Amino acid sequence: MNAIEIAGLCKQFSGKRMTKVDALKGLTLTITAGEVFGFLGPNGAGKSTTIKLVMGLLRPTSGTAMIMGVDVSQAKSRQKVGFLPENPAFYDYLSAEEYIAFVGSQFGMESVLLAQRSEEVLKCLDLWEARKRSMRGYSKGMVQRVGLAQALVHDPDVYILDEPMSGLDPIGRALVKDIILDLKKRGKCVFFSTHITDDVEKVCDRVGVINKGELLVVENVETILQRGVGGYSVLVMNPDGKKEEQFVDNADLQAFIQQSSSNHQSIEQIVPRRKDMESFFLEIVAQ
Ligand SMILES: Nc1ncnc2c1ncn2[C@@H]1O[C@H](COP(=O)(O)OP(=O)(O)OP(=O)(O)O)[C@@H](O)[C@H]1O
Ligand SMILES: [Mg+2]
Repeated sequence: MNAIEIAGLCKQFSGKRMTKVDALKGLTLTITAGEVFGFLGPNGAGKSTTIKLVMGLLRPTSGTAMIMGVDVSQAKSRQKVGFLPENPAFYDYLSAEEYIAFVGSQFGMESVLLAQRSEEVLKCLDLWEARKRSMRGYSKGMVQRVGLAQALVHDPDVYILDEPMSGLDPIGRALVKDIILDLKKRGKCVFFSTHITDDVEKVCDRVGVINKGELLVVENVETILQRGVGGYSVLVMNPDGKKEEQFVDNADLQAFIQQSSSNHQSIEQIVPRRKDMESFFLEIVAQ
């Protein structure tokens, strides 16, 4: 069964003075169970709007969305979903531990299991020491970590995360990437939005690029990175001992090697130049 199925989803917002904003223009997208999908787009592209529609927080202007075969207009579609909203804000008079216990109980978790999972997720997100302090005193990154902890506590099958690495320091970002990779290993489905291409490159099976409410492309991450071999970076040493780096197209490599040899240059290193996710993203969005 597909984890998420979105068909012809549109959202139009009413702006000031009768203006309309088409935030989402007929999005159709299927996310399979067990895959990690990166929803990549610049600011204002429609990522959060999509996520809010899938989570039933907004009503679509038209179109449908389903989670594990259940229409998102039904609350039970979210029973096995871990959700991280954009800019999470919680009841800040609670401690992280109290909040996680509250979320777990909402999902009907039995108390022994809940206590065990709460400890696991709080430790995993480096919140264990702060767990009894009220969240009012938490830093932005700590609140983001609580957001992730509450999405994980009931061990759902599908994760819908709006910018999970947002506001985190490099250690926190690496931690979240590891968590996502671990979920993938355990066969879970993760659908997350980001505008940071590196996040996608490291953890996703597929990526979808959205801009101005339209899905521009859906592609395998591995395919993008392999297809992107764009020539070679060759380090040559000149007869005077000086080293220099030269960029050579795929087709010209053989001729370059021969030419270097007749020029008495020695080739120290040849490295394929991979086109990264960032140049892929910039090319697509700039079209
Ligand atoms: N409640 C709203 N009322 C009016 N316009 C809205 C509303 N919410 C979103 N929009 C508009 O819809 C478009 C998409 O916004 P959305 O928040 O989905 O973008 P995003 O891709 O999540 O961007 P970011 O990376 O900045 O979070 C934007 O033009 C935004 O101004
Ligand atoms: Mg957003």
